[in-house]
Amino acid sequence: MGSLLDVRDLHAWIGRFHILQGVSFTVPAGETTVLLGRNGAGKTTTLRAIMGLVGVRQGSVRLAGQELAGRRPYEIAQLGIGYVPEDRGIFRFLTVEENLRVAERSRGALKARQDLIYGLFPDLARFRQRKAGHLSGGQQQMLAIARALVDDNRLLLIDEPTKGLAPIVVQHLTETLAEIARHVTVLLVEQNFAMAARLGRTCVVIDAGRVVHIGPMDELAASPELQQRWLGVGQQKAS
Ligand SMILES: Nc1ncnc2c1ncn2[C@@H]1O[C@H](COP(=O)(O)OP(=O)(O)OP(=O)(O)O)[C@@H](O)[C@H]1O
Ligand SMILES: [Mg+2]
Repeated sequence: MGSLLDVRDLHAWIGRFHILQGVSFTVPAGETTVLLGRNGAGKTTTLRAIMGLVGVRQGSVRLAGQELAGRRPYEIAQLGIGYVPEDRGIFRFLTVEENLRVAERSRGALKARQDLIYGLFPDLARFRQRKAGHLSGGQQQMLAIARALVDDNRLLLIDEPTKGLAPIVVQHLTETLAEIARHVTVLLVEQNFAMAARLGRTCVVIDAGRVVHIGPMDELAASPELQQRWLGVGQQKAS
């Protein structure tokens, strides 16, 4: 299969800071690609730049051959990209169901996919009338991901879904994401190495706004030496 997303020489500026300095990589269709890198490397900025959410960007981002550069964030979303931001982007004062409903881009989308969504996330089904702010951290993350599934997206961009979650919740979320990834192409930013290794087929490592390594995830997972070289860490404990 060819690549679904093709990022080429992407630059991004935040204020006067030149954050992304020519990022290039591809996301093969039907696979999960993991974006790795130390804190402040530019992972979130890469996802935001793909979505058109950074002030100034330059370079090319193609989704199935279609150029996204210059388009507004809502247009980019409409082309079939679901974005799950680092801060989750859910509405705390709306119920679970309302959060899903406001995620609809086309009428009837939720109705068509709610069985799938509530099947993947039984907790959300149970608490569908509960305010999102009253859910646990793990449930809030599930809701954030569920919102990206309401529409029939071709690609999901998911930013650090395990952040701040307990190991048992991470394990559960990993298995659910593995199930989701069977049906949709995913670009995942994840610092939890065990999750990244379980889900990713290819990894892209960025540092200081540049790509420093692209290779098979299992190769990186098997080699503490490569981890040390590209991520500055030894073999991390699976959690
Ligand atoms: N609003 C901002 N103003 C100034 N600098 C910013 C802003 N947002 C991000 N940066 C800088 O851009 C760089 C990349 O940030 P980014 O959030 O993309 O990193 P990240 O790889 O997602 O890090 P983390 O692992 O901590 O989430 C960092 O050096 C950060 O300090
Ligand atoms: Mg980040």
